[in-house]
Amino acid sequence: MPTQDNVRIAPPQGKLGVLIPGMGAVTSTFVAGVEAVKAGWAQPVGSLTQMATIRLGKRTEGRSPRIKDFVPLAGLDDLVIGGWDIFEDDIYEAALKAGVLDKSDLEKVKAPLAAIKPMKAVFDPEYVRRLHGSHVKEGGSKMDKAQALMQDIRDFQKNTGVSRMIMIWCGSTEVHHNPTEVHQTLEAFERGLAQNDPGIAPSQIYAYAALKMGVPHANGAPNLTCDVPAFSELARERQLPICGKDFKTGQTMMKTILSPGLKARMLGLRGWFSTNILGNRDGEVLDDPSAFKTKEETKLSVLEYILQPELYPQLYKDYYHMVRINYYPPRGDAKEGWDNIDIFGWMGYPMQIKIDFLCRDSILAAPIVLDLVLFLDLAQRAGMKGIQEWLSFYFKAPMTAPGLYPEHDIFIQLMKLKNTLRWMKGEDLITHLGLEYYD
Ligand SMILES: NC(=O)c1ccc[n+]([C@@H]2O[C@H](COP(=O)([O-])OP(=O)(O)OC[C@H]3O[C@@H](n4cnc5c(N)ncnc54)[C@H](O)[C@@H]3O)[C@@H](O)[C@H]2O)c1
Repeated sequence: MPTQDNVRIAPPQGKLGVLIPGMGAVTSTFVAGVEAVKAGWAQPVGSLTQMATIRLGKRTEGRSPRIKDFVPLAGLDDLVIGGWDIFEDDIYEAALKAGVLDKSDLEKVKAPLAAIKPMKAVFDPEYVRRLHGSHVKEGGSKMDKAQALMQDIRDFQKNTGVSRMIMIWCGSTEVHHNPTEVHQTLEAFERGLAQNDPGIAPSQIYAYAALKMGVPHANGAPNLTCDVPAFSELARERQLPICGKDFKTGQTMMKTILSPGLKARMLGLRGWFSTNILGNRDGEVLDDPSAFKTKEETKLSVLEYILQPELYPQLYKDYYHMVRINYYPPRGDAKEGWDNIDIFGWMGYPMQIKIDFLCRDSILAAPIVLDLVLFLDLAQRAGMKGIQEWLSFYFKAPMTAPGLYPEHDIFIQLMKLKNTLRWMKGEDLITHLGLEYYD
């Protein structure tokens, strides 16, 4: 690890290409928001890179610059968006179908959105069973498909003149699958691509193409994608940052805000029942039990890690935790998430908390996409490689180095994120230690 003094961050010169497999609700909401902010009629609410400040030094120093003034990030005007989808809709049409944003807002950004047309996707109906699109690359082995994606990336760079690129998966959730032999080493993975190994998912073909082309990768869905040894190997070999998985929005965001508080006050938990209804395309995909299983795994593990039942058996042993997602078309993207939480306090007396979160999934996800794009680009320019745990803040199931457990507590995640930025710039880390008692 370099010391603070020798972290050199290359300046963000030129344009930054943002390559997105999956141009549905999240992507179109993200792009529309970036255009609205650029045009000056909307605020980038929810984005740390655009709105948050970072305290530096002692509280008495009064130094709290905005993050974007502290570290050299690409500007919104420098982003050039491209991507792939199994449907031919341009981003304007995709946004209309997703139904997240009002038509009157979309009209104001119609021109830049309609100009972004997806490239043909690499798709396998075995991995996303509920969707049937025809805008796909046909024939050839999985390696041929990876080569075709690499050619798309080259063409994108040539046509747009971007100087750097980032890939972020915003495609549908793929069915649950466990890592196999083919995912253990880069060599095995490349052999698997050539031999059409069924264990290689489309999202992994995109990620492979990105890393081979020197493009960092983030994964917004719960799919395995880069969370296997072959990709850690490739990322390190190519000196590239990677991160994932599954944008932390909605119910899980609330869970990782609330449960650290309950634990901080040593309040016990008997049960946490979470249920959701949603009616967008994501909900339709998750209606397939094998796709839901992928999501369920990332959603369930959160409490276990935060509450540490092995350390606090009197408070957290054997609590009941259930997560349900139901596809309910009338709701569209306006999801409703209910939580019933049975807690207990002093002398074991029971209490209940009810949450009814009328949330908008893509409205919560869009600023995460923006921050991940800008921070991954920063990481790349700062020479950081491999899994970027400091970006765990944005994920339901943060990827970690082998042997480490993921950190889910949103407040610890935020501290880690900000301390990483301080460290990159050679500022003192903030520990909140109060040594003034000895003055
Ligand atoms: N708050 C959120 O919305 C949120 C939070 C966490 C994770 N996610 C995940 O982000 C992803 C996107 O969510 P969304 O609401 O935009 O879903 P969406 O269904 O609106 O969009 C996904 C798009 O991916 C496309 N697609 C599927 N397979 C593809 C492939 N192989 N190549 C290219 N395109 C492909 C689909 O055609 C669709 O247009 C989902 O996996 C979802 O689970 C979303």
